[in-house]
Amino acid sequence: MEGRQSTGSPLSPLASHYEIDDWVWHKDDREGYRRSRVLSVDNFRDSIIVAADGPSGASQAVRKSDVRPFYDVGEERTFQDCTEMVHLDDANILDNLRKRYSKDEIYTYTANVLLAVNPYKSVRRLYSREEMEKYWGKNPGSLPPHPYAIADVAYRRMQRNRKNQALVISGESGAGKTETAKITMHYLTSMSRTDVEHGNKIQEKIVKANPILESFGNASTVMNMNSSRFGKYNEMMFDRVGSLVGAGIKTFLLESSRVVFQQHGEKNYHVFYELLAGMDEEFLDRLMLEREESYKLLHSSGTPPLQDGSPETQRLAKQFEELKYALSLFINEEEQ
Ligand SMILES: Nc1ncnc2c1ncn2[C@@H]1O[C@H](COP(=O)(O)OP(=O)(O)OP(=O)(O)O)[C@@H](O)[C@H]1O
Ligand SMILES: [Mg+2]
Repeated sequence: MEGRQSTGSPLSPLASHYEIDDWVWHKDDREGYRRSRVLSVDNFRDSIIVAADGPSGASQAVRKSDVRPFYDVGEERTFQDCTEMVHLDDANILDNLRKRYSKDEIYTYTANVLLAVNPYKSVRRLYSREEMEKYWGKNPGSLPPHPYAIADVAYRRMQRNRKNQALVISGESGAGKTETAKITMHYLTSMSRTDVEHGNKIQEKIVKANPILESFGNASTVMNMNSSRFGKYNEMMFDRVGSLVGAGIKTFLLESSRVVFQQHGEKNYHVFYELLAGMDEEFLDRLMLEREESYKLLHSSGTPPLQDGSPETQRLAKQFEELKYALSLFINEEEQ
């Protein structure tokens, strides 16, 4: 191209990738990848000098392996499936996810894998009954990426091929695995055919099992205020016509040491705080507990004691009521 000059040997395969004045992504500690312009290419040292985009525009030498091609489609255009992109590398995938995230489009496909970026806020329009109906029986490519679409494909395949289906949800702590599992299970329980006699009861039990699991198995950590401290395998069973007929949960590797010790800034399992906040005075007396007391097992890692009537205590008391109701669906009052 006129006005462009490459300092690399034409025989070097790397040299042909980048030329002076090209826009590229280069690795950046803070932003992941940063948009920059190539100032010079040194093939002997395997380095490229780039000047960062933006007012600071400082130049720096970076390794070629830390540089990715920049593919300009404008700030507005995004790809709902990353495989449609010209350059399928980490920098361009991150850029696509970032642009989508800024428009509250938190889901993106990479072929038949769904990537979810945790919005850390409620994006209500994504999870309504109407939204569920849109995805029911539809080709996943014809609608925006969504866990409903993935759940729907699994349901259809199960019916068509008469084979068990599995959804694997993975990610680091706080990524949104538990929430995504609940979203898919909610879709399957709400939309699948129900056995008239047992259907509603099973649906309610599946949904209400979550508060029990979370009270006894989730805790506040530095990564996530509602971190699952155990692995979980949820099963849903359907009959030949696709009606939900049963469900089960297997749990693995509960972090039991948390009951007696928590790292600084972390808490014990939710249930202990919910008990203190939600039990009436008489019951607390019987157990020789006091709501506002600072207990070694619950408060020694920097968690302040509860304050009667505070919004946090009220929130925990509400969760305790939910827990009691959920337990009543599974076991009778005496066992509780
Ligand atoms: N789709 C979503 N919409 C809104 N908020 C979300 C969504 N997914 C996750 N969150 C928020 O992020 C928090 C952490 O998500 P979640 O508990 O699902 O993470 P996780 O991957 O299960 O983490 P851990 O491995 O620690 O259990 C949730 O409590 C919720 O506030
Ligand atoms: Mg979790």
